[in-house]
Amino acid sequence: MADLDGQKVSKDYHTEVPFSNQNGFFLRGCNSLDWGMKKHMSNIFNPKSGNTVMFAFDHGYFMGSTAGLERLDLLLPKLAPYVDCFMGTRGAIRTCVPPEVTKSVALRVTSGSSMLQEDLSHEVVAVNIEDAIRMNADCMAVQTFIGADGQLSSLENLNQVINAGMRYSIPTMGVCAVGKDMARTDRFFKLATRIIAEMGVQVVKTYDCENFEEVVAACPVPIVVAGGKKLPEDEALKMAYGVMQKGAHGVDMGRNIFQSQHPIEMAMAVGKIVHEGFTDKEALEFFKDAIHQG
Ligand code: 5RP
Repeated sequence: MADLDGQKVSKDYHTEVPFSNQNGFFLRGCNSLDWGMKKHMSNIFNPKSGNTVMFAFDHGYFMGSTAGLERLDLLLPKLAPYVDCFMGTRGAIRTCVPPEVTKSVALRVTSGSSMLQEDLSHEVVAVNIEDAIRMNADCMAVQTFIGADGQLSSLENLNQVINAGMRYSIPTMGVCAVGKDMARTDRFFKLATRIIAEMGVQVVKTYDCENFEEVVAACPVPIVVAGGKKLPEDEALKMAYGVMQKGAHGVDMGRNIFQSQHPIEMAMAVGKIVHEGFTDKEALEFFKDAIHQG
């Protein structure tokens, strides 16, 4: 049994020191990837800003029809100009994203749970690598439960997808899931994001938390941040600005865009923060002006 009692709680994050080993490529931890991987990463992350606005609409894979996502066929084409990457299931993407839309794709490849269950931590790899290739996926998203009942099987899923992705140069995004008994502390997110990164993913998706800059500093691949439950727009923009200031490479935002009364304007305002360095206050002004101009 590992001796965990005496484990040092390290404080040497050097949050002010930029990521090292970046020679020649704009994304942390991607320097040693091959051309195909780098190309996919450059499709997801804008090489100019280094960041991405992912739009998450995969909620139906366990929630069914969700408020704001009832008509993906109507919403997705309208949002396309204002986001960098569509994150969804193969069912939603094939049916509702016109192939002429040239945005990058983060394909959710795990499933197996539904809102009708109490424990959502047991999933399987549902999409094989051949279908990810057919869909021209730029990365494959795997739900990963650290510290939950389903930890072993979700790490098995994660490694299965990473191994397949390495064979065909398709990045994997580990989605740091918060199990029902886990608290959203920086201690949990430092543990979970680092375990996920050490498995060999190319991107980690996680949540904002206290000392988020330390979570970023200790994670050797780019982090994108989920929006979480719907907040008033000013608070969601503040969260987005905060995580970008602390080193995130973008957001993977769902409800705070699609449940806004003004999803297009909200996606545009988030993009101003992520790509153009707007503060949350400037982005809020932009959001209001954009609504006014209709
Ligand atoms: C669920 C997911 C969702 O895509 C994620 O939660 C992002 O959506 P939101 O911003 O609504 O939280 O990965 O596991």
